[in-house]
Amino acid sequence: MSTIPHSLIREFPEPEITLAEWTRTMKRSVLREMLAVVSRPGILSFAGGLPDPKLFPVKEFAEAVSQVLASDAKALQYGPPFLPLKRHIVALMAQRGVICSEDQVFITTGAQQALNVLTHLFLNDGGQVLIEELVYSGIQQAIAPFNPDILTVTTDLQQGMDVDKVEVHLLAGSRPSFLYAISEAHNPLGVTLSRDRKQQLVALARQYGLPIIEDDPYGLLRYESSAASPMRALDEEWVFYVGSFSKILAPALRLGWIVAPEFLVSKLTVIKESSDLETSAFIQRSVSAYLDAGHLPAHLDRLRQTYRLRRDTMLEAMAREFPPSARWTRPTGGMFIWVELPGHVDTAQLLWPAVEELQVAFIPGTAFEATAGSNRTDAGHRAKNCLRLNFSNCSPDTIEEGIGRLGTLLHKYC
Ligand SMILES: Cc1ncc(COP(=O)(O)O)c(C=O)c1O
Repeated sequence: MSTIPHSLIREFPEPEITLAEWTRTMKRSVLREMLAVVSRPGILSFAGGLPDPKLFPVKEFAEAVSQVLASDAKALQYGPPFLPLKRHIVALMAQRGVICSEDQVFITTGAQQALNVLTHLFLNDGGQVLIEELVYSGIQQAIAPFNPDILTVTTDLQQGMDVDKVEVHLLAGSRPSFLYAISEAHNPLGVTLSRDRKQQLVALARQYGLPIIEDDPYGLLRYESSAASPMRALDEEWVFYVGSFSKILAPALRLGWIVAPEFLVSKLTVIKESSDLETSAFIQRSVSAYLDAGHLPAHLDRLRQTYRLRRDTMLEAMAREFPPSARWTRPTGGMFIWVELPGHVDTAQLLWPAVEELQVAFIPGTAFEATAGSNRTDAGHRAKNCLRLNFSNCSPDTIEEGIGRLGTLLHKYC
């Protein structure tokens, strides 16, 4: 049976030049490399986590950019965080049920930088972190230089992170530097943390003095009316909220934010300065001008409507085309559906026949297993029989076609 080519999973060769110790355990970004290979023309891809570029508000953004360039040369200068943008973020947070002030908003170069900066704020070399067994790989990349001791918990596909297991770690005496949670429309699992579990987690954070990094890039892409606010709405001392414009405007803006206690903002500033001095003034002012013009609500409505239809199209096609032994999540927002196949199936081995023979791509579940750092967890290959599907970047027709092809393959192997 064909498998993923070895070049996609091999380690870096040992260099002659002396590098920092932690780079010895550095893995290639299997996810990125897979994405590069499966993004060939002609491949019908459910692999990436991309918003649909056809939905980018190009015209409105171009107007905002021209206006900024015409009116303010400071847009191209070094400069402090742009206060009017912070005001817009405060208003966006209020839409998520979070009350905060401009002084608590820290602008970053994307959510990924926010994770990096917060990791530097909390984590010592060899320190403990608590993450889910299956999780966004960017958090693993952010913590890897610290050679962390990674504690993991499982995730319930209906209610989110298994909070009882968090408590088990804490009761056993573990004192992680932070816990990382994607509370809404999880990447890759598609699940949203239930209201009860959010409350339980916040209670544990207070009891044990455990900072929570709440990563919420999909919070404004919600396709059902009923939803709970993020954990930051329940606690402003222990919850460090991370937001992003990548999924609601465009990833290339590289613009995100942290909501943190005001007294820590100066420390965050110093940490961030060491990596990029500051987030582009030009981008901050351009996004702020776009928001001033009042375009965002209609744009968000359009995104939600379009992605909701694509999610529903994918779910219906899966129900029709996939074998009865397959199970999957029904996300209330975001961009991903998580699929579990019978235990004997290895989705990494299915990827190549899918790409080569049927020209359809997905990401095998093992790409999301928590494995970074020196102390590998005992998660094993929990996700060997799983895969992640993205529904935001294909038209409904393409989704029907691609799920049909995938169904043919799964019937052969399940
Ligand atoms: C859960 C999660 N956090 C953070 C990011 C990074 O977002 P940004 O583009 O804002 O850096 C992503 C991107 O896919 C993500 O899925």
